[in-house]
Amino acid sequence: MPQKKRLNVGLIGYGFMGKVHSNAYLQAPRFFDLPYQPVLKAVCARTPEKAKDFAANWGYEAVESDWRALVRRADIDLIDIASPNDTHAEIAIAAAQAGKMVCCEKPLARSAAEALPMVEAVEKAGVANMVWYNYRRVPAVALLKKLLDEGRFGRIFHYRSQFLQDWTISQDLPQGGQALWRLDAAVAGSGVTGDLLAHNIDMALYLNGPITEVTAMTETFIKERKHNLTGKVAPVTIDDASAFLCRFGNGSLAMFEATRYARGHKALFTLEINGERSSATWDLHDMHRLGYFDHRDPGEVRGWRSIHVSDGDQPYMGHWWVPGLQIGYEATFIHQLADFLIAAGEGKSIGPTFRDGLATDYVTDAVLKSARSRQWEKVQGQGVGHSQG
Ligand SMILES: NC(=O)c1ccc[n+]([C@@H]2O[C@H](COP(=O)([O-])OP(=O)(O)OC[C@H]3O[C@@H](n4cnc5c(N)ncnc54)[C@H](O)[C@@H]3O)[C@@H](O)[C@H]2O)c1
Repeated sequence: MPQKKRLNVGLIGYGFMGKVHSNAYLQAPRFFDLPYQPVLKAVCARTPEKAKDFAANWGYEAVESDWRALVRRADIDLIDIASPNDTHAEIAIAAAQAGKMVCCEKPLARSAAEALPMVEAVEKAGVANMVWYNYRRVPAVALLKKLLDEGRFGRIFHYRSQFLQDWTISQDLPQGGQALWRLDAAVAGSGVTGDLLAHNIDMALYLNGPITEVTAMTETFIKERKHNLTGKVAPVTIDDASAFLCRFGNGSLAMFEATRYARGHKALFTLEINGERSSATWDLHDMHRLGYFDHRDPGEVRGWRSIHVSDGDQPYMGHWWVPGLQIGYEATFIHQLADFLIAAGEGKSIGPTFRDGLATDYVTDAVLKSARSRQWEKVQGQGVGHSQG
């Protein structure tokens, strides 16, 4: 086997995403033929003692207590940002200036204004960059993208997408601090708009092109919660639910909705697209199935197909088990990392790039602005992103 180039990874954050990304660095080279061999060089945590077990479990060689020290290390090739949203910009810009490849969790930043200098920094430095909008790499979604690109749908009329959860319904749930930073807009940027809808929007931009204007409503159902960092009851600053109508550049209309108050739903990410000739449906709870209807089928057998995307000639699946067997949530990150490293080996970045992450931030900004103004709002920064990767 030819010797692969070593790629030394410095990870920032060892929570949920720190675990998922670490798994991807270990698994991607086992299932995909990559130009690099990722090496888990160091993980950064503000309290290093807490990260020691994490480092030992995943095989990191060292623990750093300050991300700046990690970014300064000459032996680190790639900085991976898996920390809360308020940390992304400063770390990414410093990493780009130090000439590192940068992979950043979503949303790219708390607003487009904060994200723009991040895009400028990676592009000025010419470093490979990527935002972890992993759901593009679900095989059934990748198949849908292929069918759309083949022109099977004709003109698109409608797009609709939801992301429903139920974990913040309790009045007693505190806000802020470790694990609950998502309820604090100062850290997260917004509530479900930036956390959940950002996924729906990235996927929509990928599948259906730019969004031009939006009209939105948001609600904060529980107005005050105890803040974990101060111990005091404080106003809740995030949107608990967010819904918007929009128009795409291709003339289609869309409806989006996200909430953490849909009792019984844990992570119900759905989408439907309706074209002149075909329609498709997908949802994360049954992520291997793509619903597909083709009006050109002979009338007597015309109907919705439920395609089980698990065969070797379907996207990504030839890298896994035998036909018909399934893969998991973690595989979407493995696919994204593999695609990123293959592109980086050719001196390129594959989508979603930072520029694509910025495009999503422009849409979430417009959604939040419209919810405040109660008016239709134009999406700024048209044409900034939408790479096809
Ligand atoms: N792609 C996805 O589907 C997906 C899913 C979940 C979270 N995310 C994103 O991933 C990021 C992290 O989310 P999470 O769920 O892993 O959060 P988490 O709370 O589980 O973990 C965050 C980690 O960051 C660390 N951290 C915080 N501030 C830091 C600092 N200044 N320096 C170093 N470490 C710091 C914390 O100690 C913790 O280990 C967020 O941007 C979030 O939006 C993406």
